[in-house]
Amino acid sequence: MEVNAIVLSAGKGTRMKSDLPKVVHQVCDYEMVNLVLKNLKEAKITNNYLVVGFKADVVQENVDKQFACEYVIQDQQLGTGHAVMMAKPLLGNKKGVTVVTCGDTPLIKSETYAGLIKEHIACKNDITVMTVIQDEPFGYGRIIRNENGDVVKIVEQKDGSDAELKVTEINTGIFCFDNELLFDYIDQLDNNNAQEEFYLTDMISIFKANDKKVGAFVASDFTEMIGINDLVALSTASKTLQTRINLEHLVMGVNILNPDYTSIGVNVKIGAQTIVHPGVVISGNVTIGQNCVIEAGVVIKGDVTIGDNNHILASSYIEDQIIIANNCNIGPSARIRTQCNIGSNCRIGNFVELKKANLADGVKCAHLTYLGDCTIEENVNIGCGVITANYDGINKFNTFIGANSFIGSNTNLIAPIKIGTNVKIAAGCTINADVADNQFVIARVDYKKEQVYIKNFKNREKHEKK
Ligand code: UD1
Ligand code: CA
Repeated sequence: MEVNAIVLSAGKGTRMKSDLPKVVHQVCDYEMVNLVLKNLKEAKITNNYLVVGFKADVVQENVDKQFACEYVIQDQQLGTGHAVMMAKPLLGNKKGVTVVTCGDTPLIKSETYAGLIKEHIACKNDITVMTVIQDEPFGYGRIIRNENGDVVKIVEQKDGSDAELKVTEINTGIFCFDNELLFDYIDQLDNNNAQEEFYLTDMISIFKANDKKVGAFVASDFTEMIGINDLVALSTASKTLQTRINLEHLVMGVNILNPDYTSIGVNVKIGAQTIVHPGVVISGNVTIGQNCVIEAGVVIKGDVTIGDNNHILASSYIEDQIIIANNCNIGPSARIRTQCNIGSNCRIGNFVELKKANLADGVKCAHLTYLGDCTIEENVNIGCGVITANYDGINKFNTFIGANSFIGSNTNLIAPIKIGTNVKIAAGCTINADVADNQFVIARVDYKKEQVYIKNFKNREKHEKK
């Protein structure tokens, strides 16, 4: 059977007190609308119609390109029912079932969507609402059943009587409809209610009045159903999702030492037997191999691929289009930023910064170095404090260092520059001309012959302490 989904994402989210449209806020490191689309995709629902309105362009820009969806524009946000009406021209004539879900309920699992659809079909319902029991139901629509236990209507917080508001079975906001009936009846909605909105929830009483089969799918876990209307709910949802993500990694053999203090993003992949220390933040499109150690305070963000057996020491920062092969030792406090490609068996030590650096296998730069816009071949050793002077104030220039060369401590390499293979550069040099292969070069004052002494130099007298 054809299954469609309408994802309601046109609202501003006034209660978020933010300029961003609500559904673009991130839960952990992924926009809520993308979480919804991901969960639908995992439930094999891919005919998606995203209703957008408030800052529609911002929402569309933020939808992950991996999700194909059609956009439905709701210019004025006149309620959840009105939002679904806007999909009628695109969807109205289709057969099959349509799941309506909200862009602000991102934690509903794929198996829960699948369960809803299964129940809807098995019970031959015309409309099935997903409900859950919540002891603190404030803010949610309440499910009103008759003496036989049949669902007869949904009342919103702002419209309910005292007795109705005592009900603890709530509307999750998720429905499964027979698509043709949905669009046959949707025009019967009105806005005679406290908020003067067209409520999708009123479809229950409309189906009932038309003698259609109304059912409820009672979900078991409220934490999945949270509707994010403000930042308090957003932080609760992030906590819930983080716990879920970390548990999945633990089950797969990733040794997260303290899951309560470890942030791992939605799309992060980590191999078994990798140890993740507390205070680590990994977000974005990151893949880490097996048998790595990621020490405390390490931040890894953006597109990053790290192979096996790497040791990333404390407080290192790795960000944006970085590839690291295997068996490297990085940090503590290394900074690897933007488009670096690092081979196997490299050593990148403390306070080393790399930018647009291509390092072949076995390169060592163990301390206090800046390597930017450079290609460095196999087994080069970069001494302490070496700098690629890549910028003349206007343009950036490249540095090349051939295999097996040894760059002495505190050398300045003034780019553009090419150092050959098997070169030795003495400590403290400033090199601004290319060096051919197999040279030993010194470019500095030779203290034995040329070191300059300042005459009549007097030590300042120490101030006496009062
Ligand atoms: C809604 C339900 C409530 C349910 C709760 C579950 C209605 C009337 N109420 O309330 O019963 O318990 O969800 O979380 O349906 N939206 C649009 N266009 C609009 C209005 C809203 O696209 O004109 C979108 C919003 O962007 C949001 C979703 O619909 O993603 C839900 O809207 P929201 O205003 O958050 O509804 P709730 O008050 O939470
Ligand atoms: Ca909501």
